[in-house]
Amino acid sequence: MKSKMYSTFASEYDEVIQDNIYNAHLERPTLQAMLPALNGLDVLDLGCGSGVYAKYLLEHDAKHVTCIDYSEEMVQLVTSKAQNAELTDKVIAYAQDLSKGLPKEKDASADLVISPLMVHYLEDLNPLFSDVNRVLRAGGSFVFSTHHPFADFECTQSGNYFERELVQEEWNTVGKPVQVSFYRRSLTEIMNALTQNGLVITQLSEGEVSEKVKEMDSGRYEYLSKNPNFIFIKCQKLA
Ligand SMILES: C[S@@+](CC[C@H](N)C(=O)[O-])C[C@H]1O[C@@H](n2cnc3c(N)ncnc32)[C@H](O)[C@@H]1O
Repeated sequence: MKSKMYSTFASEYDEVIQDNIYNAHLERPTLQAMLPALNGLDVLDLGCGSGVYAKYLLEHDAKHVTCIDYSEEMVQLVTSKAQNAELTDKVIAYAQDLSKGLPKEKDASADLVISPLMVHYLEDLNPLFSDVNRVLRAGGSFVFSTHHPFADFECTQSGNYFERELVQEEWNTVGKPVQVSFYRRSLTEIMNALTQNGLVITQLSEGEVSEKVKEMDSGRYEYLSKNPNFIFIKCQKLA
């Protein structure tokens, strides 16, 4: 489900997430702590957004990062950042709908696949998770984050936790209300999609808000210390 948040407002989104509470001080530190040593790895970044993760991966000596996103505007941001940093030999970015899987990626071509905050935009996780397994090298890892099913249950219309639902909301992330649609689903559905596609879960986190948020917004720090907002899952492709 395309949102103007990631197309019309791509540059504003990029600016806001550099130092905001939810991305910079909750999501990224938690997911980054779950990554393996990055040196020499070929990495795929699914739903790469404006390339904040690509920058981190290369700063930590990943060999090559392939960035994929639905939004042409996000892909353009990643490409121009790579050109400005003279890193075009280490990063490529292209636009594609990830609900269709990874048709352009070769079998056993990645050591690590990441997907921060993207899979809740997919109705069916199976085509992508099946292809994540196909493109990973034996022993490779898949690390992703998504909305926590417990947090999203607040948005239910049906009252049935186990039923997948399309949720439509307005978010003020970029300083004005922008409509966003995503899928709310149970933890069981996420777990089944991983295990049925040959991915073995090795680590799970419910996120840890960083101490810096105490100074930024003490009320939000208190809330996020007691309420999960995202869930983080690390899986491995068996050797
Ligand atoms: C919340 S942003 C996260 C961006 C980046 N991963 C980060 O953490 O900074 C979600 C991204 O997923 C992308 N996205 C949403 N649905 C998609 C789809 N079906 N295929 C590819 N990308 C998609 C959006 O365009 C957006 O850039």
